[in-house]
Amino acid sequence: MADAQWWRTAAIYQIYIRSFADSDGDGIGDIAGIRSRLGYLAQLGVDAIWITPWYASPNNDGGYDVRDYRAIDPTYGDLREAELLIGEAHQHGLRVILDVVPNHTSTDHPWFQAALVAPPGSPERARYHFVDGRGSGGELPPNDWRSTFGGSAWQRVTEVDGEPGQWYLHLFDPSQADLNWSHPEVHREFLDILRFWFDRGVDGFRIDVATGLVKHPGYPDLGYREEDLLVLTNVPDHPHRDRDGVHAIYRDWRRLAGEYDPPRIFVAEAWVADSERLARYVAPGQLHTTFNFPFLQSAWDAGELSSVIESTLHAMSRVGAPPTWVLSNHDVERTVTRYGRADTRKQPGRSGHELGPVDIELGRRRARAAILLMLALPGVAYLYQGEELGLPDHMDIPVDRIQDPIWTRSGGRRRGRDGCRVPLPWTLDPKGAGFGSADPWLPQPHGWETHSVQSQLDDPTSTYHLVARALRIRRSLDPAPELEWVVRSDSVLRFRRGPALECIVNFGATEVPVPAGAVPLLRSDTIDVTPDPIGPDTAAWLRPRG
Ligand code: NOJ
Repeated sequence: MADAQWWRTAAIYQIYIRSFADSDGDGIGDIAGIRSRLGYLAQLGVDAIWITPWYASPNNDGGYDVRDYRAIDPTYGDLREAELLIGEAHQHGLRVILDVVPNHTSTDHPWFQAALVAPPGSPERARYHFVDGRGSGGELPPNDWRSTFGGSAWQRVTEVDGEPGQWYLHLFDPSQADLNWSHPEVHREFLDILRFWFDRGVDGFRIDVATGLVKHPGYPDLGYREEDLLVLTNVPDHPHRDRDGVHAIYRDWRRLAGEYDPPRIFVAEAWVADSERLARYVAPGQLHTTFNFPFLQSAWDAGELSSVIESTLHAMSRVGAPPTWVLSNHDVERTVTRYGRADTRKQPGRSGHELGPVDIELGRRRARAAILLMLALPGVAYLYQGEELGLPDHMDIPVDRIQDPIWTRSGGRRRGRDGCRVPLPWTLDPKGAGFGSADPWLPQPHGWETHSVQSQLDDPTSTYHLVARALRIRRSLDPAPELEWVVRSDSVLRFRRGPALECIVNFGATEVPVPAGAVPLLRSDTIDVTPDPIGPDTAAWLRPRG
């Protein structure tokens, strides 16, 4: 655990706490559940875990609506257990990254509750964006900004005299009020929250909505044109995304992280249009790393993926930051489902049957190849829980069990993100698949236990063993060598990472021969270490001929 540069090459496993492991039989994952599976994660071979928000929260948006940033939600455990988990993870050689949610608080947060009973113009309201409405009686929202979850981004409050009053900004659910980051108290509070967790041994933070903190003080209209676009990112001088002011905030955060030994680290959740804008978040003095969503958004397509890889490597090396790679998380369809469609691109805000039929076997073949592609790239790789099991999305969650606020905000037009958040299958028990003893908070699809850890441990051909073998090989290699392309065609990507690793991915319809003299290391389609030609939608790792 001594290496202060661990974050430059780590494999990081995302734990969506509600759905990871339930220890107390309430149908919801918890800290004790995570503690009981640390051995599994160490065995899998990841270097760190990122835990989605576990703070006290009414849980309208999976904990991204925080009531108290220094308390654990009782559903998950308590502070003592959190501290135990951090210590035990470290004993297993796993670093711990938490999620910080600085763009908004829950409307149950004491600050917001105080703002509700305070008058317009008061210091309590100044910590949020309370604005008068338009129209003669202020009955219209202050501008045209939309919530990412659908509908207007403004909600009108009732003042203490019972009259309709000002509007507050919520770029997500109305129960998530956006904070006003031009207020010094907001800055101080978050530095203090970071310190609170760093002092407890936390190794870093994932920053939720990292691009959104600073808003245009004049709240100008955005001018939406396309009905379907929820977040416009390619707008110059965007009034609430990727504004230059965010970088001053992160300079302070970086300074704070650097006061610790070893230094703590950050990863930004930054959905921005291009790698150059992304690089600004990890320029010297800024954050350490940022998610690379263009990689996740790409189709299963050699040309698209290789140009994202190239532009990422270029942009990151210019600022001295490590590239990062991610294919799945709790907000997007799992690759097994997405890559099994005719159109394999990630669709903003859409999921499930509305995007057309899925060929699961095809999707799984591609997802397995994609994992080998990702783990062969230089830098940091993120795995989302269940990705190591090749889980698909649950496409048929009954409507009365859907939890994602996107469902109600879109008036039932979008099913949202629950399909990728289904509680993990651990055992062959057909009832709950070993997630816990109770009915899980989200239903699991029929036959979920067949994907379980238990069944995959017993099956040498399983996705679990593929990922574990890949992580083991990755760890044994020198992480330094840069990527050197051997072939970049419409159907094949082939690159080297120094003398020890060559990766070939076949996106085409015909077989690709294994280069003569190369030593086969790993394949996505078979456990045999074989020099057989590489079939369609398949990846191979080889040691190149000397
Ligand atoms: C991004 C998180 O990943 C997502 O789950 C959440 O709904 C939004 N930020 C709002 O916090």
